[in-house]
Amino acid sequence: MPDEESIAAEDLPDGTVRPLGGWAVGNRAGEPFAVSRRCRHQLADLAGGRLDQDGCLVCPWHGSKYDVRDGRMVGGPRGFLGYHGPTPGYTQFVLAYGRVLRLRVGRVVRRAGRFTVD
Ligand code: FES
Repeated sequence: MPDEESIAAEDLPDGTVRPLGGWAVGNRAGEPFAVSRRCRHQLADLAGGRLDQDGCLVCPWHGSKYDVRDGRMVGGPRGFLGYHGPTPGYTQFVLAYGRVLRLRVGRVVRRAGRFTVD
């Protein structure tokens, strides 16, 4: 099981995302990644998100999508607060700043079968 400082490699199979301190750590097609945990939209915990078929990290609240390689938002939210649905103009507005205010990207290191983030 994950602890505060590292995650065992076997606990991070392909396609999964886990919390590790202030990071959302995941396995994208065999490549581990780490990005900061708070969504740029309304601060949902991205460690509770999922990877889509393109390898983007999808926020669990309104579905904003992030490129985990550089932390850029590549798909805006569908909804806000408790509403989940189409919000075309708002989606484009959030996407515009999400492309600039990127998630932080950490360097994942594997040592003795465990992942840590530098
Ligand atoms: S909080 Fe992440 S998309 Fe709304």
